[in-house]
Amino acid sequence: MIPVVLDVDTGVDDALALGLALALPELRVVAVTTVAGNVDVEQATQNTRRVLDWFGAVSIPVARGASQPLLRPHQDAREFHGTDGLGGAMLTPRRSGPILDTAAPEVMVRTARRYAGSLRLVCLGPLTNLAMAVRLEPRLPEFIERLIVMGGAFAVPGNVTPFAEFNVWSDPEAAHIVAEAGFRTIWVGLDVTTAVRFYRAVRESLAGSNLPGARLAYEVSRWAFDQRGIDSFALHDPVAVAVAAQPDLVTGERAVVQVLTSPNEIRGRTVWRAQTHAPALVAQELHTQAVYKLLQERLGLPGGEEEPTQWDDHAP
Ligand code: BDR
Ligand code: CA
Repeated sequence: MIPVVLDVDTGVDDALALGLALALPELRVVAVTTVAGNVDVEQATQNTRRVLDWFGAVSIPVARGASQPLLRPHQDAREFHGTDGLGGAMLTPRRSGPILDTAAPEVMVRTARRYAGSLRLVCLGPLTNLAMAVRLEPRLPEFIERLIVMGGAFAVPGNVTPFAEFNVWSDPEAAHIVAEAGFRTIWVGLDVTTAVRFYRAVRESLAGSNLPGARLAYEVSRWAFDQRGIDSFALHDPVAVAVAAQPDLVTGERAVVQVLTSPNEIRGRTVWRAQTHAPALVAQELHTQAVYKLLQERLGLPGGEEEPTQWDDHAP
């Protein structure tokens, strides 16, 4: 099993990503760190603890991280994730695990040293903690076996601005530091994540289920379907976790990635230049149906409401 640290801003799709990571046999989650993103860091920390506890993962430590981006004020995404960030989920775990006193960047560094050469780091929120960890330990890219980032919009439009994806847009300076640091990175951006979706009809089929993954999915999607009235949403973060377990799920281009930080209109834009031996890979194609299969087998989520051939649609 590959030891992994997940860095999250839990968040509806982060919650499902945590559930998937716990269930995938390839991965052993050794710690989870939190960051301000979809919600403030305190809420993200409580949500993360609650989701881990829901799955009975009370021995996995959670470390609180940055409360705001490196240089900018924090702007949340509660509009999409609900006031509590978990879509108003009604989940009451029986027991609760620890929240560490040590801050997230320090936990990243310590864990990377401990599992030097084998740790996989999966970042599902703004990259503030990781940028701070690189400042603490400039050799971090040597210790981390692979970094998987849910972030960026490379050859597709962004989801916050026409150019930028939320995680990168939130803290572009941090993303810039991470992109320059020399990690063996897989950038799992909107180019591939929007193809894997959770549909209203799938949620309805889960009503009354007692499987922890299915219950979680039913609960965290309350806000999206009942309040916002949308018919599907993308499972960005679960896709990144699936790629962390099975990197062959994506193909793409080896490239040097650059994150633009200014002017404001292009803040958070991710650009890339192909380079055969670059340590980073920009994902461009995803084995969508294999991801749906993992979600079904490991989390108890049936496939999309559409026929499998239509699952590849890049609907917004
Ligand atoms: C990313 O932004 C957040 O809202 C999601 O949790 C995901 O990590 C998608 O742009
Ligand atoms: Ca996230």
